[in-house]
Amino acid sequence: VRPLAVSALPSDDPLTGDDTQLALQLLYGLHYEGFEGVDPEWEWEPTLLALRNRIERRFVDALIADVGSPSPVAPAEVPDALRALIAAADGPSLSSFVLEQGTIDHLREFMIHRSIYQRREADAHTWGIPRLRGRAKSAMVTIQADEYGNGVAGRTHAELFATTMTVAGLDPTPGAYLDAVPGVTLATDNLVSLLGLHRRWRGALVGHLAVFEMTSVVPMGRYAAALRRVGLGAGAEFYDVHVEADAEHEIIAAEQLARGLADDEPGLIGDLLFGAAAVMAVERRLAEHLLDRWHQHRTSLREETLTRTA
Ligand SMILES: [Fe+2]
Ligand SMILES: [Fe+2]
Repeated sequence: VRPLAVSALPSDDPLTGDDTQLALQLLYGLHYEGFEGVDPEWEWEPTLLALRNRIERRFVDALIADVGSPSPVAPAEVPDALRALIAAADGPSLSSFVLEQGTIDHLREFMIHRSIYQRREADAHTWGIPRLRGRAKSAMVTIQADEYGNGVAGRTHAELFATTMTVAGLDPTPGAYLDAVPGVTLATDNLVSLLGLHRRWRGALVGHLAVFEMTSVVPMGRYAAALRRVGLGAGAEFYDVHVEADAEHEIIAAEQLARGLADDEPGLIGDLLFGAAAVMAVERRLAEHLLDRWHQHRTSLREETLTRTA
């Protein structure tokens, strides 16, 4: 490991560019499982962190420009503010399309996009636990324990998703489809890694998790039904588990996690709402990308890599 002399930054779209988002994905990967053949000392190498910081700044500035700075509300109003934000979303519904007209190929592509996050589902939010106190900490622990299968080996949601992928004939190895997915997909995963790794963004991390939990039950039920319709019902457990668990999580997330943080650190309410708006914005862009491509009867994956992922 030797200091880097990097002067160039990725110059593509900071929200969706393949270069920007792949760079972030690789830099964040050092903090998760790392990479085979890559010296683990790179994780804390100062010149590499300086590079990461510059790329992150472009990403965060673009997110703020995209969703604005939500005006803070009183702590007691935070759960309703989150519900209002979710209710106001007017983007296209990916899960409705998949339920009504998704083919087995659509479902396989959908799983490939989601695999970037789902194969390490929950890990980024777990970084928030040491940075929270009181009710918010307890609520996050309750949610995360379920995400990890309550300590039962093989039952983490990330592992249930591996089964889903295998049933669909896909490779569940983490990172197997890194080349196949565009920046708009990587951005959904990079957002939560960024929020999780920076204590400064703990409020936004809470808002991100709250939206995840509060928008899960209906879409997850649709994906489970779509899998059964195309004959992949053996892989539906991942989605079924979410329908059940997130009916509870959505209440804990709004009333204990988000409200608890808002009561404890009211100065973070603006960040909390920013994190909620940011996840909705990146998810909306991903849904629009998939549906645009599918309506044109094109693949939603990076076309140059298709020969390797077919
Ligand atoms: Fe989960
Ligand atoms: Fe959940």
